[in-house]
Order: sequence, then C-alpha cells, then structure tokens
Amino acid sequence: MAVPVIELSGVSRRYEEGPAALDEVSLTVAPGESVAVLGPSGSGKSTLLNLIAGLYRPTAGTVTVDGTRVDTLGEAGSARFRRAKIGMVFQFFHLLDDLTVADNVLLPAEMAGVGRAAARRRAAELLDVLGIARHARAYPGRLSGGERQRVAVARALMNRPPLLLADEPTGALDSASGEDVRELLNDLHADGQTIVTVTHDLSLARACATRTVEIADGRVVADRPTPRTTPATSATSTAVAR
Ligand SMILES: Nc1ncnc2c1ncn2[C@@H]1O[C@H](COP(=O)(O)OP(=O)(O)OP(=O)(O)O)[C@@H](O)[C@H]1O
Ligand SMILES: [Mg+2]
Repeated sequence: MAVPVIELSGVSRRYEEGPAALDEVSLTVAPGESVAVLGPSGSGKSTLLNLIAGLYRPTAGTVTVDGTRVDTLGEAGSARFRRAKIGMVFQFFHLLDDLTVADNVLLPAEMAGVGRAAARRRAAELLDVLGIARHARAYPGRLSGGERQRVAVARALMNRPPLLLADEPTGALDSASGEDVRELLNDLHADGQTIVTVTHDLSLARACATRTVEIADGRVVADRPTPRTTPATSATSTAVAR
C-alpha cells in the first residue's frame, strides 16, 4: 500500500474540564482518498482537523502527515509544515478583506518564498479554472458567498498541498453555491487530490467523498465507503490538483 497521507495512532485531546474532545482515534488516509467526517455538533470533528493540521497538539498519540510527525513540531515548524503540506477551507472563508482576490490567492506562495512570476501564473490558472478570474482585482467583500469560497479553495490549493482540509465548506452557502463547492471538491478528488471534509451536509459527503467516517463523543463509530450517487467525473475536471 502507498505511504498514507494521514496516519493517526491513538490520538486523544483532553481539556481539564469535561470528557475528551477526541478519544484514542486511529485513522489512516491513503493518497487520493476523499474522506467525509460526519458527526453531531461537539463530537470532535473540528478538533480532529486541527490536530491533523498541527494547530492543536494531542494529549496522547501520534499524528503523521505526508511523512512528517506533526504532534512533535514546535510553533515555527508547525507553520512551515502547514505552508508546505496543508490547504485549509473554512465555513466562513477567512479571506483578508483588505487584499484583492488575486492577492489573497497569492499569499501562501509569498509566505513560502515562491518566485513572483511562477506564483502569478499559478494564481491566474487557479482563478481561471475556478471561474473567478473576472474578480481577480475585486475585494472579497464584493463577492457572493459561493465566489468567496472558490477564492478560499484557490488560496488553499496555491502551494499544491498534498492534503486539503475543509471544515463545513458549504455551511454558510445557499443551495446553488453549495452545489458549486460540491462539484469543485468532486473535481479535485477526480484529479487525485487527497481531501478530508468535515460536514453536516450528507449531499456533500455523497458528492465528494469515497469514504465516510462518523464521529460521536470523540470516537470513530463508523468508517465505510460512501455510496456514490454520481460518477467521479465532470466536464470541468481540471489539472489544478497537479
Ligand atoms: N478550549 C476548549 N476547552 C474545553 N473544551 C473544548 C475546548 N475546545 C473544544 N472543546 C470541546 O471539545 C468538543 C469537540 O469540539 P469540536 O469543535 O471538535 O466539535 P465539532 O464536532 O467540530 O462540532 P460542530 O459540529 O459544532 O462544529 C466539544 O465538546 C467542545 O466543547
Ligand atoms: Mg466544528
């Protein structure tokens, strides 16, 4: 089997008060898998993503992402790890409102020290592929929610991360924009991108995930292939993941 992109072994995250937010979770994700994480509010889904991204440290267990032991990194190492390996998309976009769309998308490349010309080419290609090229010079405040989320996806993909993490990416969108984001994640998966998506949205899980992991009270209670409703191909399938 190929080297996993994600390997969690006995991972717990406890706070002083209350039960563990995550309780001895072991999970392996292979390259090219698209995993949906489902579970009730407070079950530990965001905690799981933040542990994978190195934003939280586990209180027990080990987290390995694309060959890097994430749980032992210091602050600087953890930031460097995220720049190189992780793209993240959130429910409320987290775009910088005083930068243009193009500059938001360029930011991760700048922080990683990528040459200006190569970064601009990559950003232009992503904006084009995601159908937001005409907004390149606009500020995010002028865009619709669906457009903002596509900008956030472009930014997340800028440095070609081996792993894309999404936390409720359709949670703040109307149904049409949600559908665009579902198609986008499905296209990325078809292009070979490894993706973990936390969602309450069953149609999102069905549209973009090959595997569904259910969490309850900090534990994995089910892990099974997602029944597909549509084939993993699309006319707009692109080379953005490569
Ligand atoms: N700093 C903290 N101190 C104490 N408990 C915390 C802290 N952060 C999170 N928790 C608890 O950890 C548990 C898991 O939270 P988490 O945000 O991972 O849930 P979630 O599944 O993402 O929920 P939602 O679907 O509402 O986003 C919750 O019970 C939460 O209250
Ligand atoms: Mg959450």
